[in-house]
Amino acid sequence: MKYTYYGHSCFAVEAGGKTLLFDPFISGNPLALNIDIHSIKADFILLSHGHGDHVADAIQIANNTGATCIAAAEIAYWLQAKGINNVHAMNHGGAVPVDFGTLRCVNAVHSSSLPDGSYGGNPLGFVITTATGNFYYSGDTALTLDMQLIPNWAKLDFAVLPIGSNFTMDVADAIVASDFIKCNKVIGVHYNTFPPIAIDTAKAVTDFEAAGKTLLLPAIGETIEIGS
Ligand code: NI
Ligand code: MN
Repeated sequence: MKYTYYGHSCFAVEAGGKTLLFDPFISGNPLALNIDIHSIKADFILLSHGHGDHVADAIQIANNTGATCIAAAEIAYWLQAKGINNVHAMNHGGAVPVDFGTLRCVNAVHSSSLPDGSYGGNPLGFVITTATGNFYYSGDTALTLDMQLIPNWAKLDFAVLPIGSNFTMDVADAIVASDFIKCNKVIGVHYNTFPPIAIDTAKAVTDFEAAGKTLLLPAIGETIEIGS
């Protein structure tokens, strides 16, 4: 699998023969000025919840790429009202076959409203299995015991977890989450974009090392190969 970081919680994973783009927030991110959203390719756009720092560029990139947008039902219908017809509405507990493998929507402990104040439904995490590997993106969430269910559904090759605290888990809780999901290879997101989520990244990496785990923090614009 290939992972490309676009800043904040926006990343693409090439897996199962498709390109999956998550939580596009680029044009409003001062750290992602080098990223041209018109250069981003996607077969699917997955939105964990409705907050602006996760959906800001979704409509633009959906229009550019023709990608299928997968999100909570309320967000999917909001996109349809904005002219995006290629949507797949889901909710917690849904586990379905998709072109790239299987997709399961799991709990995230957070909130979800859309930029215009519309109700965004439940915030989601995603467990994805493909022919080329499996991964979990938690979305914005607190640490939750529900994460202990995830190993029942997938043997993960890596997980993408927020580490910035204030709005989500911090590094210490992400380390516990990594125990719950039985996956020692974590890619950190949702840190350093704004002052409330600024962290000491060197300490974050050594804290993971001390727990016998790996925290990967690719640079914005960087692509890494990742697998088991
Ligand atoms: Ni959020
Ligand atoms: Mn967020």
